[in-house]
Amino acid sequence: MTEETLSNLLHENRRFEPPAELAAAANVKASAYDDAAADREGFWAAAAERLAWTKKWDRVLDWDNPPFAKWFVGGELNVAYNCVDRHVEAGNGDRVAIHWVGEPADEARDITYADLQAEVSRAANALTSLGIGKGDPVAIYMPMIPEAIFAMLACARIGAPHTVVFGGFSAEALGSRLEDFKAKLVVTSDGGYRRGTASALKPAVDEARQISSRAGHDVGRVLVVRRTGQEVAFDEDVDVWWHDVVDSASPEHTPESFDSEHPLFVMYTSGTTGKPKGILHTTGGYLTQCAFTHWEVFDLKPETDVYWCTADIGWITGHSYIVYGPLANGVTQVLYEGTPDSPERGRWWQIIADKKVTVFYTAPTAIRSFMKQGREIPDRHDMSSLRILGSVGEPINPEAYIWYRLVIGGDRTPVVDTWWQTETGAIMISPLPGVTAGKPGSAMTALPGVSADVVNDEGVPVPHGSGGYLVLTSPWPSMLRTIWGDDQRYIDTYWSRFRDQGFYFAGDGAKKDEDGDLWVLGRVDDVMNVSGHRLSTTEIESALVSHPKVAEAAVVGATDPDTGQAVVAFVILRENAGDGGEGIAKELSDHVRTQIGPIAKPRQIMIVPELPKTRSGKIMRRLLRDVAEKREVGDTTTLADSTIMELISAGQATST
Ligand code: PRX
Repeated sequence: MTEETLSNLLHENRRFEPPAELAAAANVKASAYDDAAADREGFWAAAAERLAWTKKWDRVLDWDNPPFAKWFVGGELNVAYNCVDRHVEAGNGDRVAIHWVGEPADEARDITYADLQAEVSRAANALTSLGIGKGDPVAIYMPMIPEAIFAMLACARIGAPHTVVFGGFSAEALGSRLEDFKAKLVVTSDGGYRRGTASALKPAVDEARQISSRAGHDVGRVLVVRRTGQEVAFDEDVDVWWHDVVDSASPEHTPESFDSEHPLFVMYTSGTTGKPKGILHTTGGYLTQCAFTHWEVFDLKPETDVYWCTADIGWITGHSYIVYGPLANGVTQVLYEGTPDSPERGRWWQIIADKKVTVFYTAPTAIRSFMKQGREIPDRHDMSSLRILGSVGEPINPEAYIWYRLVIGGDRTPVVDTWWQTETGAIMISPLPGVTAGKPGSAMTALPGVSADVVNDEGVPVPHGSGGYLVLTSPWPSMLRTIWGDDQRYIDTYWSRFRDQGFYFAGDGAKKDEDGDLWVLGRVDDVMNVSGHRLSTTEIESALVSHPKVAEAAVVGATDPDTGQAVVAFVILRENAGDGGEGIAKELSDHVRTQIGPIAKPRQIMIVPELPKTRSGKIMRRLLRDVAEKREVGDTTTLADSTIMELISAGQATST
């Protein structure tokens, strides 16, 4: 297929019908939409029946006190048993659960479900021996190694809620999460491999413990996996090696049952204020919807599929679609430690060919970067095993969708563009590969059992062909239950914008096309989406303002061809800082890196004399976005001082 054909396709308005064979054997058929619409609770109850419960629920949904939901009320189950033991008991202990592929080319490890049962049991026994029990918060800060999954499942097994903090976050970011979560123990490793070099993790944990301690919370113990073998500081009173306590622990462990609403984990995510929100997910409803949607959206055949999701376990996608959903379904999956380009740019495609991956789930930002490198690289590999491709994290532009389908999927594979959020816990809007004729760039329709709509400012659904705010109009099993320790913020953030209608406000803009299909356009609040990672403008502004030379800062997300959006910062320096000195932009950028992490690093920092503000003092980010995206600056009539934009546009813009 030539580049010219590719571009013709873009203008062809093509629909991609499901392959006939796939449609005939699909797990979920078109009738599921009607079944769910006729009896939503019955539909989810049937999905919950796919799991093993030690005590059946009395009531499917308790929505008597909205927006606080309870699903499968009175039911009891163990998540780790569902993800591991029951597959062994069903005679599938020899099935590979995880094909782990290390970044160093010669490192790999296959872990069967029976191995996983022994490893998770050992880790559960070790955590218990370290004094961790039901309800004790545990933080996990690890690279993509099997022990990260063992640790998550061990926590679930003993009822200890976990929070996994992405290994790319800084000590500061980790420290504030340890404090907010009141973590009793941290599981980490000495380091991990990134682009061929061993980078340290343990020192960040040591520093984060101090930060948490200064804020009033002491973390008791740190459990350390030896991954790279690099030198680490070791405090015998606090630190303990994984190989000392886990390897010697018994591989037998009897799982206890927990209430359906027992906290499973908290995932911190950026909101519109500086403080990350701890999104709480619980047990029964979360596992039901993760497992069901994974089986439904990827048309999963656990006996034959080899599934690979390239997310990091430090994000919600890694939780729902590497750990909980796939393992609950008993599938074989790939877990890759490193970056796509290490040791060479075809590494991912090599892994697909080697492991005969059939279902592949990644982010548009990755697809766009491969597009830039050219199709010669993927074309060198035999990827004929692939049958379904998924996309998540940000809108997928039609060009990337078509490239993905043609070049990676050989024009055979449906592409499922899945819309969801940390808060929704599981996929909410997506095509079904055996049912839907997909449109490049559209997430299509709400899944069976899910109800979404697009509404105007008054909360009234917009007609076909119009745009507005994306809302979810009924509760769903894997919905967040609250913000950890802050019920009011939960109500204010998600349920007050359309309080009268009782709709969940997702924070995204969307369009309903003439057929009623949904096109998610991106955030309508002060949240940015950089390479599929969620960042808050306020959080980065707070980081900048904590630098001694900075008086004020405003951050916007500017459209970027590679990363979707990119961080652009406008900074006013303090008077005593003069012009900040040479290298000021780099200095500030490095500061953001240490405060939050490399993902938050601005693409550009502009030093400006003033910021555009309304008469009431609100920064007009719209105008700053015009500057950042090099457009003509829009309407400035509401500015307190309309000359400011000229000053900024002509100002001493300093770029990183
Ligand atoms: O703006 C939407 C975008 O990512 C946000 C959620 O980010 P996060 O909680 O980090 O979860 C990412 C992985 C589920 C959403 O509010 N988003 C996610 N998926 C899509 C998307 N935007 C458009 N299309 C998608 N498929």
